[in-house]
Amino acid sequence: MKVVASAPEGLEHYLAEEISNLGGFNINTYKRFINFECEFDTFYRIHFYSKLAFRFYREIASFDCYDKQSLKNGVRDSFDWLNWLHYEKTFNVQVTGRTSSLSHTHFTALEVKNSITDLQKAAWNKRSNISLDNPDFIIHLHLNNNKGILSLQSSVESLHKRGYRPAVGNAPLKENLASGLINMTKWNGKVPLIDIMCGSGTFLIEAINQFLEVPINIDQVYLFENWFDFRKDIYLIEKNKAKNKIINYAKLPKVIGCEINKKVYEQAKVNISLAGLENYIELINNNFLQLESKYKPGLILCNPPYGKKLGNENELIYLYEQIGIFLKNNFSGWEFWLLSGNPKLTKYLKMKSSLKIPISNGGIDCRWIKYIIR
Ligand SMILES: C[S@@+](CC[C@H](N)C(=O)[O-])C[C@H]1O[C@@H](n2cnc3c(N)ncnc32)[C@H](O)[C@@H]1O
Repeated sequence: MKVVASAPEGLEHYLAEEISNLGGFNINTYKRFINFECEFDTFYRIHFYSKLAFRFYREIASFDCYDKQSLKNGVRDSFDWLNWLHYEKTFNVQVTGRTSSLSHTHFTALEVKNSITDLQKAAWNKRSNISLDNPDFIIHLHLNNNKGILSLQSSVESLHKRGYRPAVGNAPLKENLASGLINMTKWNGKVPLIDIMCGSGTFLIEAINQFLEVPINIDQVYLFENWFDFRKDIYLIEKNKAKNKIINYAKLPKVIGCEINKKVYEQAKVNISLAGLENYIELINNNFLQLESKYKPGLILCNPPYGKKLGNENELIYLYEQIGIFLKNNFSGWEFWLLSGNPKLTKYLKMKSSLKIPISNGGIDCRWIKYIIR
């Protein structure tokens, strides 16, 4: 199969590495997506083990496309719709990109839909209904350089939603972004991990799931189950392997989350227990200033408020000063990773960074900054 995977900007290379480790090959990396090839078993497996992808799309056809007529013919002739899309199945069409005469994605999507339903009507005198919320198929058309590429989306929901976070705190990180940031720290699971402002617990849950290679989204219903060449036998083998995977939680070092806000702390507790990690993450409802440093040096993470979504910039100056002073006084020898969305505030830490990685967090231009605490 030829597959496209979308990812948060800045994580494309990490996604490529992840997919390669899971069995994907011929991988190419672009801005916010990668493409690759894989066999059926890998395709099913990546849904359970990719921690970084938003979505997977399987390429099914491509054709020359400049205008309405070439679009209509291209869609009609480039794929075996009648075998794949029975009129009892629902679908919707999504379009990205443009050509000079196909510049309205909504109009283009309607043309794609008509081309498919015309075929169905000619064959059966009946056509599929369109479903926006709960379709059996999601068909994508990407237009670029007078080419149309058709693909099928493999899940309705984005895969960054793992089901453990019905309750979100203030300004939570997307799960796949958190996982990617952890990946960049190269945390090896051998030293303690502390999130001093853990919010809904995303960093800690993702760090453990990544380190122990915990499968995710196993019980979802996937759109690929409706595909004509769905290999249920192979899928069930992969699903059962994931379900029965033995996870050695005993390997984990000390993992601590600290959250000052009682309500957010309670939500984090729910999330952590839904992720099955209540015995492996110590959650503290307090100001981080009360944290004790009684472990061997490890990693401290922090996604503080930075005045864009949460908190007023001036009030936050004091908070950043406190973080810097507290860490230098109590956690010398530890590594500190800060997700900064505001360089003016970061200065008030009065710490010298050793690495700064640009990252986009929900459209905010951020830096993932590494410090060695001295
Ligand atoms: C941007 S949010 C963190 C979001 C988190 N990464 C997530 O994915 O849910 C910042 C969190 O820091 C908490 N916080 C602010 N000041 C704190 C302090 N002094 N000690 C501990 N937590 C604090 C806030 O209540 C808020 O939940």
